[in-house]
Amino acid sequence: MASVTGLQTILEGYAPDPANLLDILHDAQEANEQNHLSRETLREVAEYVGLPTSTVVSSATFYSMFSLTPRGRHIIRICESPPCQLVGAESLLDLLIKTLGVEVGETTEDGAFTLETSSCLGVCGVAPAMMIDEELYGNLTKERLAGILEAVRSDDDGS
Ligand code: FES
Repeated sequence: MASVTGLQTILEGYAPDPANLLDILHDAQEANEQNHLSRETLREVAEYVGLPTSTVVSSATFYSMFSLTPRGRHIIRICESPPCQLVGAESLLDLLIKTLGVEVGETTEDGAFTLETSSCLGVCGVAPAMMIDEELYGNLTKERLAGILEAVRSDDDGS
């Protein structure tokens, strides 16, 4: 969880300027074990950059990359725009739902994965595509998808 100490360290890396808001929120969310921005974090960031808390909450709510509710350690975003849909993204989403035992927007019981959908990820040439955290995966098949999930889980176990 983004401890106060962790947040202080992040804030110290930036000038207290509203122009740094999105970068600060990005770092604060990344430092949070549950991949979200707590109310307390938003309040402290607002105070630091000199904006009303309501403005910071609005910004965090506007951008889909931010979450105000706790999520898993890894965020899976599968593309649901037409070019990916046409080459099988829908059946991959069905497989993810079945394999992980969650619906879109939910987190697995072990806290490992939150499943989300996304509009175009900008890599239509390798459709169907998805992101896990900051990593992009293209040319997905059911077999590759299963292997990727396994690799992410074993990385977790090894860390
Ligand atoms: S439509 Fe899926 S990456 Fe562009």
